[in-house]
Amino acid sequence: MPTLVVPTGVRSPGWRSDLGLHSALGSLEELPEGWRCELPSIPDNPFGNMLVLRGAPGARTPQAVAALFDDHFGATEVTQLCVGWDDPGADASTLAPFIAQGFQAIDDVALAFEGAELDTGRTATGGDVRLRRLDLGIETARVLACELAVDARRATPYGPVAVRRSVAWSRAVLAVGDTADGKEGEPTAGSEIGGWYGAEVDGQVVATLGIVSVGGHGRLQSVGTHPSHRNRGIGSALLAWAWRDAAARLDLDRLLLITSRDGDAERFYRRMGFRRTGGNLGVLRAV
Ligand SMILES: CC(C)(COP(=O)(O)OP(=O)(O)OC[C@H]1O[C@@H](n2cnc3c(N)ncnc32)[C@H](O)[C@@H]1OP(=O)(O)O)[C@@H](O)C(=O)NCCC(=O)NCCS
Repeated sequence: MPTLVVPTGVRSPGWRSDLGLHSALGSLEELPEGWRCELPSIPDNPFGNMLVLRGAPGARTPQAVAALFDDHFGATEVTQLCVGWDDPGADASTLAPFIAQGFQAIDDVALAFEGAELDTGRTATGGDVRLRRLDLGIETARVLACELAVDARRATPYGPVAVRRSVAWSRAVLAVGDTADGKEGEPTAGSEIGGWYGAEVDGQVVATLGIVSVGGHGRLQSVGTHPSHRNRGIGSALLAWAWRDAAARLDLDRLLLITSRDGDAERFYRRMGFRRTGGNLGVLRAV
């Protein structure tokens, strides 16, 4: 089965998966200090244009980290400095010197599920909900409408431009699978590198998510339920259904995702059976 390539030697499952995913349409380079990921088509995607450094945040001063980033990205068009540390056990308190210098903390967790059936906690979603695989190449506008509605309700929305880019990027990643399978140009529904999934109510797409094979594991992406359809069990039902389909079709036994530590989303996933498998610690700053 085709899968996106992840770098060897990265200890943190979350950064390993992120580097594989984000470099799928860009480049990944191993350096003496760690790994450099570049995604030229999206200069404002921080995780597509980042350094992941070996060791703990305390190993270098904020000034030394900024200089290192500049050494590696000074000649590249990027809008943010983004640096992660490949130290799965480090805690966010080690970022204090960076916060004091105006950096924003990245304190995310990688959650993993190993098994066949995610726990939805209930059987019926109520109403007439249809769960199915979407063809992101053909149904782009319907997925976009749902993702824009999800984004508009975020505390800090990414904005329509970023959401459009993200959907276009997802389409392109699925097409990597088509190319690997020798079917370039054909609809992406049959892509063997991943799949997009949706829940429909009265013909409207009200929840979407993607599962991509990264380093042989499923990687969950872009999970969202339209704000007017939340808390009805649609998100959990879609995720459980999508995982059954993707695990069988893509031959996956582990599903991984990255989310904010201790946020509402982490609670949602843990209730379904996901467990922590390490942290993604890093910093961000506009350049
Ligand atoms: C996270 C998200 C996808 C959940 O979607 P959803 O369709 O509301 O999911 P569900 O209805 O299955 O479950 C959500 C909650 O409703 C509860 N719930 C589910 N079905 C219910 C029902 N029939 N009656 C009452 N409550 C229900 C669940 O227990 C769950 O509670 P929790 O938040 O305390 O864990 C949605 O809130 C969302 O889009 N959030 C913004 C984007 C986001 O954070 N995405 C994840 C990024 S990693």
